Parts: sequence; C-alpha cells; structure tokens
Amino acid sequence: MMQTPALIDPFARAITYLRVSVTDRCDFRCLYCMSENMTFLPKADLLTLEELDRLCSAFIGMGVEKLRITGGEPLVRKGIMTFFQAMHRHLALGALKELTLTTNGSQLGKFAADLAGCGVRRVNVSLDTLDAEKFADITRWGRLPQVLDGIAAAQAAGIRVKINAVALKGFNEDEQFSLTDWCAREGHDLTWIEVMPMGDLGNENRLDQYWSLRDLRARYAERFTLTDLAERSGGPARYVRIEETGQKIGFITPLTHNFCESCNRVRLTCTGALYMCLGQEDMADLRAPLRASPDNRPLEDAIRAAIAHKPKGHDFDYSRQAVTGQMTRHMSHTGG
Ligand code: GTP
Ligand code: 5AD
Ligand code: SF4
Repeated sequence: MMQTPALIDPFARAITYLRVSVTDRCDFRCLYCMSENMTFLPKADLLTLEELDRLCSAFIGMGVEKLRITGGEPLVRKGIMTFFQAMHRHLALGALKELTLTTNGSQLGKFAADLAGCGVRRVNVSLDTLDAEKFADITRWGRLPQVLDGIAAAQAAGIRVKINAVALKGFNEDEQFSLTDWCAREGHDLTWIEVMPMGDLGNENRLDQYWSLRDLRARYAERFTLTDLAERSGGPARYVRIEETGQKIGFITPLTHNFCESCNRVRLTCTGALYMCLGQEDMADLRAPLRASPDNRPLEDAIRAAIAHKPKGHDFDYSRQAVTGQMTRHMSHTGG
C-alpha cells in the first residue's frame, strides 16, 4: 500500500493508534456506561463492514499501526469476523503492527479461536468484580460464568488477556487484592481505570463512585514492593511490577494524572464520526467524504483536516468537590 505522510497533530503528537467502535449496541448495560433504556442507532446509519474496511485501510495507509476494535460490544456486531479477516491482511503485509479489541468477554467463547486466526494476540476484557451477584448488579444484564468461560477460551486460543477494572468506591475496593491474586493465578495482566464522567448521570454521582488510583496504588505499596516500569502498551496505561509475584499492574489515571500530552489516538464511531479526544465534543464526519467518491483523496483530506483540530486534552476534573468536564456522550458511543 502507498504510504501517505504521517498524521501529526498541532501538538506534534503522531497519530498511530485508531480505536474503532463497530457498534453502539451491547449485551450488557454497565451502570457507568449505559442507561437501562438506551436508544440505539438505526441500522441504516451504520457504516457497512466494507465501508469500515475502506476507512481503516485509509488510516493504515496514513501511518496508523495499531487498531483496537471496540463498541458497545464489538462481538455482537453481525458478521464482525469478516471485518477482522479483512484487517488481518494489513497485519500480514506488515503495515499494521497490532490488531486487538476491548470486549466484555461474553462472546469470546464463540469467537476466540477465529480471532486468534485473524492475528489477534491480546485482548482487553472489562471485568470489575469476581462476585457473581455484584457482577450482575453492575452490568445489569451480564452473567459472570459466561465471561469467565470466554476468558478461558481466549487463553486456550493463545490470546493474552488483560483485565480492565474500573475502580469504584464502595463497589470493588474490597476486591483489590482478590482480583489481583486471581489475575496472578490465571496469568492475566490487570489494569485499573479511574471512572470518568461520561453519559447522563441520572441519579448516579461519579464523585461518590470515584476511587483515586493514587489511593489504590498506596494500598498495593503497603503490602508489596512496586517497581515503576518504563514499558508502554501503546495506550495511556502506566505499569508497575509487583516484585513478590512478578505481575504487571496498569493504571489509567485520567483524573489524578493527565496523560494527554502523549496521546497518540483518535476514535472512529460506527457511523463514521471521528472523535479527536475522548473528553471533548470535537468530531469530524468521515462518512460523507467516504460515500462521496470511490477515490480516497477526499477522505484522506478530511482525515488530515480533522487531525489538524485535535484538542490538547480532556477537561475532566473532580477536584473542588464537583465534577467538571462532564460529557453527555455515552462511553459506548466511542468505545472508551
Ligand atoms: P492497551 O494499552 O493497548 O492495552 O490499551 P488501552 O489502554 O489503550 O485500551 P483499553 O481499551 O483497554 O482502554 C481502557 C480504557 O482506558 C478506555 O476504555 C478508556 O476508559 C481509557 N482510555 C483509553 N484511551 C484514553 C484516552 O485517550 N483518554 C482517556 N481519558 N481515557 C482513555
Ligand atoms: N469511566 C471509566 N471507564 C469506563 N468504561 C466504561 N465507562 C467508563 C467510565 N465512565 C470502561 C469499561 C471498559 C472500557 C471500554 O471502558 O469498563 O473497560
Ligand atoms: Fe457494554 Fe462495555 Fe458499556 Fe458495559 S462498559 S455496557 S460491557 S460497552
């Protein structure tokens, strides 16, 4: 493929990581992500799998090396394996370095082997608790055993699993060490995420749910020897090693430590909107230039123009005992 010049934003950050939300639908309704009665997009508004292929291929031609498929729940999109197979060719050609996904794990039992066949080597699975009752509460519709089976299927297929747990005060504080031990036993990496103010909060208050990772880290430090690691996985996580177990723990800290200065990613939604930042409204419509012409030039121009407007960072803030930077958009819209 002809490589056009790299995508560099106004803050000299190279954009090499594209997150693609292939559906806004999900078989769960996590409390911090969706409301119980979500209105989903009409199917006619979605990009087809062929259009998603063309768009992603254009980004890869412009220097994107890492593709993360998200949702909603990416594996509930009909025919999604066709899309993974299509992206596999970019891995095979060497233009793409990593093809991966973030999933709730519910469909991994069905798809893990096929995903491995498409070159997926790592998967991030969202799992906030190992208590079946609490799991059913937080996901509203989810069932823990199905997710644990999915994780086992991924492992059996040779895919590395990273567990993503949103740190929630009064919810999984008491599971910090049991979740950590379980990951050590099962051989999974673990990353904690600070809860962000996304979606209509309704009766919930993110400030009440907010558990600072500074606190969580201090609790680890009371029990274990922690070594900061320089390595990066291409995302915003910073890692430490627990010397006693050798295990790697990640921290994604949009609130206590703003990592935007090293941001390398943009987000594409299933309708072809490109969001330049998870925490800002700025977006560019790529569906129109995509559909306007079979020639990719207008699309590439639109992508470059969008990157030229990438904002410096999010404005999430919980200090002063109030939530600011709140986004009305749901997390499932852009896939986190
Ligand atoms: P790897 O580092 O490749 O494992 O992945 P990642 O951390 O980029 O991806 P993952 O989907 O596991 O991201 C976990 C969560 O981190 C996302 O769902 C978001 O909640 C958060 N996150 C990822 N990127 C950003 C970002 O650019 N800004 C903010 N504020 N949060 C982000
Ligand atoms: N704050 C932080 N993380 C969130 N996620 C969903 N909603 C939020 C939020 N409000 C996480 C999920 C999953 C990823 C896609 O985003 O747990 O790991
Ligand atoms: Fe679905 Fe993930 Fe949102 Fe939960 S966090 S409702 S699993 S998209």
